[in-house]
Parts: sequence; C-alpha cells; structure tokens
Amino acid sequence: MTELSCYEEYKSLIKTKMGEKRYIHSVNMAKQAVHLAEKYGADVEKAETAGILHDITKEMPEDEQLQLMKKSGIILTKLQMTAPKLWHSISGACYIRDVLNIKDEDIFNAVRYHTTGRSGMSLLEKVIFIADFTGEERDYNGAEEMKQAAEESLEKAMEIGLAFSISDLVSRRMTVATETLDAYNELMMNKNI
Ligand SMILES: [Fe+2]
Ligand SMILES: [Fe+2]
Repeated sequence: MTELSCYEEYKSLIKTKMGEKRYIHSVNMAKQAVHLAEKYGADVEKAETAGILHDITKEMPEDEQLQLMKKSGIILTKLQMTAPKLWHSISGACYIRDVLNIKDEDIFNAVRYHTTGRSGMSLLEKVIFIADFTGEERDYNGAEEMKQAAEESLEKAMEIGLAFSISDLVSRRMTVATETLDAYNELMMNKNI
C-alpha cells in the first residue's frame, strides 16, 4: 500500500469520527504540516499522517477515551484528570498506535504532545504542534501573526504559541499542563543563554 492510499484511507476514516468542521480542520492541518515539514526538513509522510490523524478521538465520548487509554496502559495524573480537553491527544496517540497499528514513536509523540508541547520536542513534534494552529481555516485573534511566525522560524512560532496558550489558560484560571510549562521554560532558558 502506498503512502498516498494510506492518506486517503485515513481521510475517509476520520470523516466517520468527527463533524464537518473538524474534518476540514484536520485536512488543512495535514496540508500545513506537510508544508512546514518540507520547509524545515522534517519527515513529510510522517507529518501528513500525524496531521490528518491528530484529532481522531477528539469527538469520542470521555468515558470511551478513558477506557482506550486504560487499555493502552496509560494512567492519568491528577492534573491530567482536571483537563478532559487534553485527553484526546493521549487517547488519539494510543488509537493510532494500538488500533490503527501505526508503530512509529515520532508519530505517536507528535500526536501525544500536539496540545501541550513538552521539553525536548523533535522536529516532527514541533511541526505538528504549530500546524495545528496555523492551518488555512484558522482565523482567531492573532492567527495572522502566528502564521507569519511559522514561516520565519519554528522556535519563534513555538514561543508565541506557548506564551499565548499559558496566558490564556491562566486568565481563565485553568490548570496548565506541566509539559507546557516545561516546553516554555526550555525555550526561554535557551533563548537567554
Ligand atoms: Fe487537538
Ligand atoms: Fe487540531
């Protein structure tokens, strides 16, 4: 099976698992992931696969996601339990590895950390993290600045994305994932050396 037919199959599969809006987001995200992978030298096929599949469990009921993660041997921390919106990145990675049988650690981690980031991210992980909020349909306040930054450097886009995400969560008095703080601190430490 060629990668192209895999991609078409993944597209058909996700279409059965989400609404139209998220489907369009996923297709745009995969396109942007391919663009950024080509630009920054990440694996293009992996970027396309991780991109199209990254939100595959986002509309799966929470109890099913919990079951899926449990089956895959994941034990959520107390902090992770407080943020059900983030579960889809963990359950999605498990789904891709354990249900779709895509055994690639970098794809697993790219999906696993696409919402929170983490310290020591691979090139593919950064590409997926950034592609998620710079796809074609994204029109939130600041989207143009973000898309511009993504064209300039991955680090710059990571910095703006993480800073935005942390301030947004704090302003809404929500918890901030430890991995997000780690990613942000790592970036700032490297910048200030
Ligand atoms: Fe997501
Ligand atoms: Fe997404």
